[in-house]
Amino acid sequence: MTKISPSVLSANFANLGADCRAVLDAGADMIHFDVMDGRFVNNISFGLPVLEGLHKALPDAYMDVHLMISDPLAYVGEFAAAGADCITFHLEAGSDITATIAAIRACGCGAGLSLKPGTPVEALFPYLDELAIVLVMGVEPGHGGQSFQPAALEKLRKLRAECERRGIRPDLSVDGGVKFATTAPQCVEAGATVLVAGSAVFCAEDVAGAVRMFKSL
Ligand code: DX5
Ligand code: ZN
Repeated sequence: MTKISPSVLSANFANLGADCRAVLDAGADMIHFDVMDGRFVNNISFGLPVLEGLHKALPDAYMDVHLMISDPLAYVGEFAAAGADCITFHLEAGSDITATIAAIRACGCGAGLSLKPGTPVEALFPYLDELAIVLVMGVEPGHGGQSFQPAALEKLRKLRAECERRGIRPDLSVDGGVKFATTAPQCVEAGATVLVAGSAVFCAEDVAGAVRMFKSL
């Protein structure tokens, strides 16, 4: 069954714990936690103390941390200690990729690698065997609520084929512009096993209903 990872970037920050509780109760498999540093992307979101607080409030929630920051290797230990279950960083972020994957795994977290829309998917093939998750961006990282770029579907197909060829099954996640009625089914058809959805979940009138609809895919 496809997993759903609601992105708290679109949650109500004055009510973050309750918003996360609501999506988990509705069947969300994990919480997607988007960290932005104002350098790797031009936006600034939230970081370690917020993750720590959420983890304390919801200790059983699987925290799917997406680092859109420069030099992620420097922060791996702190995010793991704050409650991350898997840590995804960007191929373009400037850290040694092999060392960063190793550091994430050494902390007991699943390692994830992501790539911007303009980066060819083959660039992450050398690291594929070490990854628990590959995160394909459907939009330029930095903001919620953007339109899905269909080129992400081709990346998912290529990833699925390469994983099948190697006999490995990392989660194939897609993030950005994922909407229940339109792009989500296309992503699942192309090979996505995890759907990250921010505005489509937290801006819905019926948040629990939105999660249940995604879970029915
Ligand atoms: C974008 C973030 C996403 C964002 C997705 O840089 O990585 O996780 O929250 O938002 P939607 O689902 O609204 O496109
Ligand atoms: Zn994200």
